[in-house]
Amino acid sequence: MKKSILFLLIGFLVISFYSCYYDKADLLYPTGAAVSCDTSTVISYSQKVVPLLKNQCYGCHTPTGGSGGINMGTYATDKAIAVNGKLYGSISHAAGFIPMPQGTSKMTTCQLAAIKKWIDGGALNN
Ligand code: HEC
Repeated sequence: MKKSILFLLIGFLVISFYSCYYDKADLLYPTGAAVSCDTSTVISYSQKVVPLLKNQCYGCHTPTGGSGGINMGTYATDKAIAVNGKLYGSISHAAGFIPMPQGTSKMTTCQLAAIKKWIDGGALNN
């Protein structure tokens, strides 16, 4: 009886160590999406959303005459597509939307989560 408890304990410890190992690997090799994860409860439009969109969208979607008739690059334009659902629909590659950014890979899970949080928070000009 005592032995089986010992085995359980050892098994538990081994599992614990393995989970720690993976956590540390994420920290040691910060190449994955986890590193860019913004866990703030409120996502800032100017600090977080604009840099992402500037990087991946504003090249084609300008404030006037953007590709596909979608204007981006000012708070008013960005908020408009945030509230009508097109922003998140396109970047999350949801059915019924044209997947964006066009011609390149989908945003990371963390980037998508940050933008979703900004939209769900009312797409504030913060
Ligand atoms: C390389 C140029 C390019 C980039 C980069 C790009 N787009 Fe687009 N986008 C287009 C074009 C072209 C269309 C029109 C596509 C069509 O009508 O077939 C479009 C259409 C859209 C639409 C309309 C989709 C729909 O289903 O109605 C949205 C919303 C959009 N883009 C948002 C974005 C966002 C957000 C980003 C950045 C994550 C982005 N785009 C990056 C070129 C681009």
